[in-house]
Amino acid sequence: MEKFVIKGGIALKGTVEISGAKNAALPIITACLLTEETVVLKEIPKVSDVFTILKVLETLGCKCHWKDSELSINASNITTTEAPYKLIKKMRASYYVLGPLLARFKETKVALPGGCALGSRPVDLHIKGLEALGAKVEIKHGYVSCKAKKLEGKSIILKGLHGPSVGATINVMMAASLSKGMTIIEEAAMEPEVVDVANFINHCGGKIKGMGTPIIEIEGQKKLKGTKYSITPDRIETGTFIIASVITKGNVTIKKCEPEHNRTLLLLLKEYGVEIQEGKNFLRVSPPKTVKPLSIQAGPYPSLPTDLQPPMVSLLCITPGNSTVVETIFENRFMHVPELIRLGADIKMVDRYTAIIKGVNQLSGAPVMASDIRASAALILAGLVSKGETHISRIYHTDRGYVNIEKKLSKLGARIKRVTDPTAP
Ligand code: EPZ
Repeated sequence: MEKFVIKGGIALKGTVEISGAKNAALPIITACLLTEETVVLKEIPKVSDVFTILKVLETLGCKCHWKDSELSINASNITTTEAPYKLIKKMRASYYVLGPLLARFKETKVALPGGCALGSRPVDLHIKGLEALGAKVEIKHGYVSCKAKKLEGKSIILKGLHGPSVGATINVMMAASLSKGMTIIEEAAMEPEVVDVANFINHCGGKIKGMGTPIIEIEGQKKLKGTKYSITPDRIETGTFIIASVITKGNVTIKKCEPEHNRTLLLLLKEYGVEIQEGKNFLRVSPPKTVKPLSIQAGPYPSLPTDLQPPMVSLLCITPGNSTVVETIFENRFMHVPELIRLGADIKMVDRYTAIIKGVNQLSGAPVMASDIRASAALILAGLVSKGETHISRIYHTDRGYVNIEKKLSKLGARIKRVTDPTAP
């Protein structure tokens, strides 16, 4: 097992380049199943979740090849439409094969993903959408089996109790792109990753309109073709580096990013007291002079992303005054809180969705444990400003979603090392 050892106290300085978005790359890789022709993808982040989804595609019979940083995928010889539990349980996003396999082969059997550290994470909206297109869906022995004589476009509302679903919007959009006629998804997720998948499908000859708004219209096509496509920059990695600069009172320039995708974070940080200069594909973060506590709520786009809620909690831990952080998407998204308390943070959970944070002057390094990708980012950021050494274990969570985070941070001056720890849990 590996862990990060961080010696806090350095203000980050310099330039960092953002990688392609993991959460756009994963569904775009599965959307390659929609065509028999070869697709070449650029800016795919080399994170472990990407390697997991490629394993799923290879199990189905796809040929996947890296040539330097370009990934080519050919799905002309699919040998099975069944995705087994041993692969799906590794990563929920593997469920993204459901829509494309059903659309192209009119049948598929995919293991139900079950819950994860963030909570129960149901897939009812995915199933509701595919049933509306004409699929007969059966859940048996832990598998979702879908069959359809043909898929036909419909109007579908995809909003659940916690708002629109990114995953269901994308799965249904992928299936609808090979269905007969027009599909209209109402109350669709508006996240930039949804827009990127729609843009990719359009590059392959699809006809999708309205992505980025709550109503997406998909005119189904008989066939889609191969293309070359570049993945959008990762707005969560961008946000993580913005907050890393702010928390350390640093001067970081973030390149190859899309500032508009982080608009809410930028506005919140302006209210907090940070000056951020913005250009076409870059952001320049200055150290804050006076800072203010915040009341923030994480929610569906364009709200503050739930994936940036944990790093924001770390920042507010060392911000004088009382801050409030409300989570609206996942029931277990405060797993970083008990670990931050180990570093000296003063946080009270009102209920499982609301944290009250009283800023402390200084955090102090300690051994802590990561529980998911973004909780690990929160702990890294806290480690950067803790006095002494912070040891973060279970960093395989970090590797699922961040490309070389310790190298990128070291280049900015951080004292962070990846070490092997045989005693780590
Ligand atoms: C995506 O998950 C991301 N994952 C998550 O990023 C992100 O936190 C989340 O969207 C919210 O932005 C990927 O893109 C691979 P949802 P997803 O469906 O699609 C409920 C990270 O760290 N719901 O938008 O699974 C659900 O329980 C990860 O990179 C239903 O009720 O999220 C949640 O409360 C973690 N029924 C809400 O909707 C359904 O059928 C939003 O979930 C589906 C979802």
